[in-house]
Amino acid sequence: MFYSDELIEEVRSRNDIVDVIGSYVNLKHKGNSYTACCPFHHEKTPSFHVSRERQMYHCFGCGVGGNVFTFLMEHENYSFPEAVEALAERAGVSLPERNMTKEERKKADERTRIKEMNKIAAGYFHYLLKTEHGNGALTYLKNRGITDEMITQFGLGYSDKFSDDLYKYLKSKGYKDDEMLKAGLIKVDEKYGPSDRFWNRVMYPIIDPNNRVIGFGGRVLGDGVPKYINSQDTPVFDKSRNLYGLNLAKKSKRKGVIFCEGYMDVISMHQAGFDNAVASLGTALTVGQVNLIKRYTDRVYLAYDSDEAGTKAALRALQIMREFEMPARVISLKPYKDPDELIQNEGMEEFERRIETAVSGIMFEIDILEHNYNQNDPQEKTEFQKEVAKCLSRIMEPLERDNYINSVSEKYSIDVKALKEAVTAYGVSGAANIDTSVFRQQERRGSPEEEKEKQQLKTERVLITWLINDNELIPAIEKILSPYDFSDPVYRSVVEMIYQQYTASNKVEPAVIMNHFESREDHEKVSSIMQQDFGVEITANEKSGAITDLVKRIKRKSIQNRIDNAGADLEKIKQLMVEKKSIEKIKINVF
Ligand code: UTP
Ligand code: MN
Repeated sequence: MFYSDELIEEVRSRNDIVDVIGSYVNLKHKGNSYTACCPFHHEKTPSFHVSRERQMYHCFGCGVGGNVFTFLMEHENYSFPEAVEALAERAGVSLPERNMTKEERKKADERTRIKEMNKIAAGYFHYLLKTEHGNGALTYLKNRGITDEMITQFGLGYSDKFSDDLYKYLKSKGYKDDEMLKAGLIKVDEKYGPSDRFWNRVMYPIIDPNNRVIGFGGRVLGDGVPKYINSQDTPVFDKSRNLYGLNLAKKSKRKGVIFCEGYMDVISMHQAGFDNAVASLGTALTVGQVNLIKRYTDRVYLAYDSDEAGTKAALRALQIMREFEMPARVISLKPYKDPDELIQNEGMEEFERRIETAVSGIMFEIDILEHNYNQNDPQEKTEFQKEVAKCLSRIMEPLERDNYINSVSEKYSIDVKALKEAVTAYGVSGAANIDTSVFRQQERRGSPEEEKEKQQLKTERVLITWLINDNELIPAIEKILSPYDFSDPVYRSVVEMIYQQYTASNKVEPAVIMNHFESREDHEKVSSIMQQDFGVEITANEKSGAITDLVKRIKRKSIQNRIDNAGADLEKIKQLMVEKKSIEKIKINVF
């Protein structure tokens, strides 16, 4: 941690969460909290809540939550120290610089300067496009039917024919060669020195969801190769965790997000009104991108090129979507090559129709399979049917699986009963034969031990939530459970802080507890315990019973762990057994 706990707490307490979040989203006062449509996922009815009293936020739709620091980490993509710094500045709290090590300060400055350079470069390219120098590029875009509105919206530009004009421009603004090199804006040749990375290309700035230019794609004006040059990964640009067009798509009112392959597809789709289109950045779809998109939508459409490469890419993308439980449908673009061509030729109504008739990932895969086998050859036909069964056996939900079995058997004239049997065979005993993605899905359900552990964590989580929501329970529970009875290290720290706060001031401040965690994962984990609202009214009796039960379970597990770890220390084991027996007498009374 760069800053002291006291300082972090001062910054937090001087930034009221309602004011801070209110400057990003339109909050409506409702009861004792403020609500809005969640800025982290797409929704029409508000499930995002901000509490002034607790100084915390939570979305009941997508589960995000935390304190004012978490919000900035999520919304601005800041690290914890960056969030502290931004809010310190907002509240006029001065932070000591020397607490950041030299190395850390250097990194932070470097990122800031790369973002500045990118912004300047994007502005410069955009400006050039509208000067005489940019005539060729502008004509190219016009010939492809791109409107001025889209040129502005996507900040399109042109990099000049000179090979060092951007370099000179940035130099004149005080940026150094090695900084420009790190930003990926120039190349340095041993013999010829520095030159611009992009020249004589149409420029597509890549803008992140916080509206910062993080990189560029540049296209040749005609048929040259390479067709596109993209920024390399830099300290501010990670190709595998960003999507082209997401800065705009995140604001779309349309259902789902449409993934396409190219920059031009995205622009063309937005122009036709499909402002929920995005593309990956010159690479195949990555896990990071699927995780990213999960924040914004619960449904994905693939509009990949209809050629062999596009089909392959779609199959691969579907596999990742499946692994991350993101429902995906595939839009058919045939007979056109890509969305851009389809829209140019058939217009938006046709594309709308294609969205409506998009097929589920599984049906798409089976369709592809069918073409790989000669259906007139009995042996190949059997092979095909086996593959179909494997495919269907991956559907975990029984009802859904049955529905698919029925429609597949009809579509491909496969006997329903036989298909059903084959699917069951693959699902139950064929684990070794079926493809690995199936295997991974089954693994994710967890072995009995893993399930038990999950259950245990849940028990701990629920009890902590009670402690936070109902501080009066603390004294009684503190007598029985020490922080060390909790198995999860994060929960352990939370309980420790709850006890400390209560002892010191007779109350618990969730937002202060939050300060102690730096990573995004921990913020997520801690905020989920702090926000769970059980939303049920129960009698004191029922509550006593429920809490007693939770306490017993946690204690029992904790003692069992100690017994398991006691080795041959019989004396200790005996003592623990006695302690274990006494658990049965525990009774927490709530009034
Ligand atoms: P496409 O060739 O389909 O791109 O490649 P596009 O945007 O539709 O281009 P137009 O319509 O010909 O202008 C898909 C994506 O693959 C990456 C780019 O990200 C492109 O948008 N790509 C393609 C490269 O990175 N380099 C290349 O040479 C070609
Ligand atoms: Mn294309």
